[in-house]
Amino acid sequence: MVSEMSYLPRVWLGSQISQRLLPTKMRPLSAHVKLTENCQAKCISCNYWQTRWEDGITTNRAISLINEIAAAGIHSLRFTGGEPLLRTDFFDILRQAETQSFKQIIVQTNGLLLKKLHNEVNASPITDVAVSIDGLKETNDLIRGIRGYFDLGLEGIRLLQGKKVVLSVTLNRMSAKELERLAAVAKEAGASVQYNILSESLPFLKDADMAAMWPQQSEVEEITRFLRETLKRPAYEVDYISRYYRQQEISEPPCVLGYLQVFVLSNGDVMTGCYPLKPVGNILRDKLENILASEEYRLQSEAMLRRECPGCTCGIESSLAMKHAVSGAFFELRRLAGRFAADKKVARPPKAETHLSSGASNG
Ligand SMILES: C[S@@+](CC[C@H](N)C(=O)[O-])C[C@H]1O[C@@H](n2cnc3c(N)ncnc32)[C@H](O)[C@@H]1O
Ligand code: SF4
Ligand code: SF4
Repeated sequence: MVSEMSYLPRVWLGSQISQRLLPTKMRPLSAHVKLTENCQAKCISCNYWQTRWEDGITTNRAISLINEIAAAGIHSLRFTGGEPLLRTDFFDILRQAETQSFKQIIVQTNGLLLKKLHNEVNASPITDVAVSIDGLKETNDLIRGIRGYFDLGLEGIRLLQGKKVVLSVTLNRMSAKELERLAAVAKEAGASVQYNILSESLPFLKDADMAAMWPQQSEVEEITRFLRETLKRPAYEVDYISRYYRQQEISEPPCVLGYLQVFVLSNGDVMTGCYPLKPVGNILRDKLENILASEEYRLQSEAMLRRECPGCTCGIESSLAMKHAVSGAFFELRRLAGRFAADKKVARPPKAETHLSSGASNG
């Protein structure tokens, strides 16, 4: 097992100073699992729902996969999709898997089934529920393509007990002027707000309606004000997002996601925390442990640091925080992780078990 104390500092040293200093063994901090990529919504920003996907991971393989993720020392597990709550065996899987060692089990959901399934969610080991809502009622329902989505999602949220709830908001043109009021709605429902940056470069977002969604000058100003004043995001991050939406030149940080996250798709493919690059293995053929230990995993993660990739905005908060670490962003990494426990022995660098989640997750 890689020393928890040394992993993150070595990712920082290796990504910012010299690749020779990188950890020799991969130990991502979080695993994102898609047990299904089917979806019942009709979002204009995403086209998962337009395909009928084959769920390749059986109930038993899902259970053993979760056990393998725990055994790999990964403390944060995120279920995403598609719509994860569409898997009818989802709660059976959670009941039968060894989930005790996870510090966080997050379900990233469109929220449409929360009202129906709230008892199961409440009784499950899920710690966090992230519900995608992109604007106030009318705007949200237009973006997500389902009339009644907003009300149903909020109804579901109000039935949750003992879970940390966040609204995942994809920052866009149509709801830019509603963000303050949306944050107030979230607060009233006991939820906080995390954001996604609108992306057009992910494979599953091709053909999404970007013209309707992409913010113009005045909306970019609303968005940046919201990030700075309401969400209190660090200045370097607000600046990045502002430049991104204005389509200005950006100095991209090394992408550290290969070291922080591992993705498993519904066909079993394993990705190095990156959707656009190629899979490096498949859990239907191999154990996760072997894939994480493979040369292919390590080499692709190193190439990601050098940005040998098409580029995307996934997890940009983590990569920016790493880049700005010397100016105090290790604190920010901990804040992203939601863990403030001071480590008296290691004064500055983050503890390796800290979970660097990217606010909301567009994966
Ligand atoms: C692909 S969805 C999968 C999980 C679930 N179906 C949901 O909507 O929360 C993951 C996240 O990506 C976000 N998303 C959708 N379209 C996006 C886009 N074009 N750019 C960035 N994020 C997007 C969603 O709003 C959601 O928060
Ligand atoms: S964003 Fe989520 S809810 Fe919307 S179509 Fe994509 S997978 Fe479905
Ligand atoms: S920035 Fe590049 S390497 Fe990082 S996740 Fe996106 S496409 Fe992959």
